[in-house]
Amino acid sequence: MRMYDIIRKKRDKEELTDEEIAFFIKGYTDGDIPDYQASALCMAIVLNGMSDRETAVLTDCMARSGDMLDLSRYGDKTVDKHSTGGVGDKTSLIVGPIAAALGATVAKMSGRALGHTGGTLDKLEAIPGYVTGLTDEEFFSVVDRAGMAIIGQTGNLTPADKKLYALRDVTATVDSIPLIVSSIMSKKLAAGSKNIVLDVKCGSGAFMKTLEDAEKLARSMVEIGRRCGRNMTALITDMDKPLGKAVGNALEVKEAIEVLRGNEKGDLYEVCVALASEMIALVKGIPAKDAEKQVIGAIEDGSAYKKMIEWVKTQGGDPRYIEDPSLFPAPKYAKRVCSPRDGYIGRMDAEKVGTTEVLLGAGRITKTDEIDHTAGLHIEKKTGDYVKKGDLLCTLYTGNEARFAEAEKRYLSGIVFSETAPAPVPLVYKIVR
Ligand code: URA
Repeated sequence: MRMYDIIRKKRDKEELTDEEIAFFIKGYTDGDIPDYQASALCMAIVLNGMSDRETAVLTDCMARSGDMLDLSRYGDKTVDKHSTGGVGDKTSLIVGPIAAALGATVAKMSGRALGHTGGTLDKLEAIPGYVTGLTDEEFFSVVDRAGMAIIGQTGNLTPADKKLYALRDVTATVDSIPLIVSSIMSKKLAAGSKNIVLDVKCGSGAFMKTLEDAEKLARSMVEIGRRCGRNMTALITDMDKPLGKAVGNALEVKEAIEVLRGNEKGDLYEVCVALASEMIALVKGIPAKDAEKQVIGAIEDGSAYKKMIEWVKTQGGDPRYIEDPSLFPAPKYAKRVCSPRDGYIGRMDAEKVGTTEVLLGAGRITKTDEIDHTAGLHIEKKTGDYVKKGDLLCTLYTGNEARFAEAEKRYLSGIVFSETAPAPVPLVYKIVR
């Protein structure tokens, strides 16, 4: 079998056989197939898609490309949450501690920034001392002591996705339903949780721009998970504008802390309550409305915030940064971006906000780029807000002043002003159960 023929077949819109998909995944994981051939095949998949059978086989091969974690020691209380990727999406840092405070076991594997979207691991590494790479024994030890852990794909879990994820990030091959389904579900199946809640983002800052595509993605992942014996729920949530106000690694950790302290009650809080309620509903087998009361209670009584401190400390992080977020190193440079005119913000192109973040140094342009954890932006005005000329729209932060010019231009190019207020859109479009 030759990789050349597999690429050619997909380029010509033919279906790949189970054996061809298995050959690609094994060969790429083992290092026998080079990056340039893998990226050519990914691009052909982006352009020509895959059938349900091909997607299921790809997911299965990727899940089995390494070890599969056995979480059966925690019974049926394990719960995972995974987002398809967004801008300002720091929900894992919030819903993890809420679910763990309510008795669920959160043994979670997260990813790094992908394309214009942020990554939970990059955010967590902004906390001094926090260790994202643990052995299986260390991972179980943190979960045993704190009730939760969030790690990277360490050890030998889904090595195929580890390589493909990094490759897709820099080859414009992220936004494809079969590639996203196989990437997310291979990790979720290998990571072993019994209950899985998916946050499928929809809109300009998401890989799925339309509700129709987002629903297709959600149904495909729910179906694959169910077939593998997992309890699944997917929420389709808005990503037409960034979530919350902070975009960038340390900035987002600080915003997550404020939500858990009960100080932030905007869109981020609401999406987190919706996600955490579905997680608790699955774990406890109760209606989501009842779960919601418990979730809100865990924020209001401080138990979710205390759980964050306990988890971060157990995973090597310095808890003083959670107790006093002013300790996070300040970004070296700040630049105010002001409105060029009066009017409503009719639309924000959230993908452009995400690329602004990357241009400021908070994401990677090539596979080996170092992240600037202080970089990012703080948004003051969002879709639907009325602004006057000169009002502050956002503040940009970076460690390299030369990055401001392009970043500011990119940010402003994503704002569409209008004379009238835009119609509000729901935060949660749909729940696929
Ligand atoms: N998140 C993932 O883990 N993989 C993708 O392909 C997209 C989002």
